[in-house]
Amino acid sequence: MSDPVSTPPAAERAPPATLVIFGAMGDLAKRLLMPSILNLMRDGLVGDDVGIVGVSHHDADDAALRDSLGQFVGKGDDAETAGAAWQALAGRIHYVRGSFEDAATYATLADRIEGNAAFYLATAPGFFGTIVDRLADAGILDESAGFRRVLIEKPFGHDLASAQALNARILARIPESQIYRVDHFLGKETVQNIMVARFGNALLEAVWNSRYIDHVQITAAETVGVGTRGTFYDATGALRDMVPNHLFQLLAMIGMEPPNSFDAEAIRNEKAKLLAAVRGPRPERVERDAVRGRYRAGQAGDATVPAYREERDIAADSRTETYAAIKLEVETWRWAGVPFYLRTGKALAARDTEIVVMFKPVPFALFRDTDVTRLPPNRLVLQVQPDEGISLDFVVKKPGPVVDTREASLDFRYADSLPLGHRTGYETLLYDALTGDQTLFQRADMIEAGWAAVQPVLDEWGKAGDPEDYDAGSAGPAAADELLARDGRQWHRIGA
Ligand code: BG6
Repeated sequence: MSDPVSTPPAAERAPPATLVIFGAMGDLAKRLLMPSILNLMRDGLVGDDVGIVGVSHHDADDAALRDSLGQFVGKGDDAETAGAAWQALAGRIHYVRGSFEDAATYATLADRIEGNAAFYLATAPGFFGTIVDRLADAGILDESAGFRRVLIEKPFGHDLASAQALNARILARIPESQIYRVDHFLGKETVQNIMVARFGNALLEAVWNSRYIDHVQITAAETVGVGTRGTFYDATGALRDMVPNHLFQLLAMIGMEPPNSFDAEAIRNEKAKLLAAVRGPRPERVERDAVRGRYRAGQAGDATVPAYREERDIAADSRTETYAAIKLEVETWRWAGVPFYLRTGKALAARDTEIVVMFKPVPFALFRDTDVTRLPPNRLVLQVQPDEGISLDFVVKKPGPVVDTREASLDFRYADSLPLGHRTGYETLLYDALTGDQTLFQRADMIEAGWAAVQPVLDEWGKAGDPEDYDAGSAGPAAADELLARDGRQWHRIGA
């Protein structure tokens, strides 16, 4: 029998281009963007016709930028090959010093670019609108000499109104087709795999609805505290930082209808439809259906953390939450009546990003002496990180003359057969931006739908009250357990 799975064509090398990084002396550039470019070079997906221009206000020059960007090169298990790629790239890295607000910066930049260019805004979010305005004023976003694409990091706005305002400001200067709003969760292999698991397997899609699914849990737990990001985090909080963006992207992958093609717009249309159907708690339900927590001092995994309010750059009277849990409904034919419970937090028991799909119990107690309420329902766990994989729990008969049951599990772990390799997750995003594929980037309507769903919670939490304290290294505040217990359910154990 012939292999029914055809071999996909090898990905093509990205076209020649200049990658301009605003905020080039910052963390994102050296920790994630540079290693990603090197990985792409090593894979032959980016050639020696791609150069880098870093823009920043720091007093530096080409050599200083190269030093800064080279800091993390070859720190993984790939030291040798990364080193070789770095030698080839370093000579094509140039620095432009200047303020992001100053027209002169852009005049200098314009002289450094010809042909294709992608602009990566790895800056504080307050600069996003200004940089796009100045680039456009300087004529740099005109595409007559080559493509000109703008990549914008999160956070995109800090609530619905500010996200709408930022979208309006940017869209007044360039069309959606030139805008690549980054949500780095979409660069993760296992997140992209959700779509393949769903739409490549008849078995799953057949039961993927309210008739068979009881509820869905989406978790992004971290052991680390806020570390050095106190200023940013205290003004942001767990909900804004993770929920309307990263967790909603996972939700969209789980909930979307099958697109009618693999085109970027077809996929983004389906995700946008799903996100527009997400209903967060109404104001009067916020207290019941949304939970906020804040960590106490303690040991979380390998991390020893001080109490949140004792962390560097955190206000002593801060009311910012470091944990958020929320119950959502998705108002579509497929999902009516199926709750989605989302939670995320810092200083928790384990690093664990996962989606748990809980199926309904079987309808009838068939087995003598085995009460149906004792039959655990099927459970599908999509493990995004770490230990990436998929597992399905189901019931089997225990060997022996009497019919008795126990739980078993079908486990697929990437590490066993398809190692993911040393990847940052930004490789795909950079490659897609250079090749013009917007599938994995957020469109204006998706961003706004995400904020709209959580806005009542932001409003209520902004008015009064404090988060509930939880111990570092625990599973979060007690109220989060009560949220599910009220519905007769419980969370999947963090790190299980
Ligand atoms: C970022 C958040 O967007 O995502 C961080 O700002 C968070 O607070 C991070 O730690 C989590 O990403 P990852 O890839 O480590 O799961």
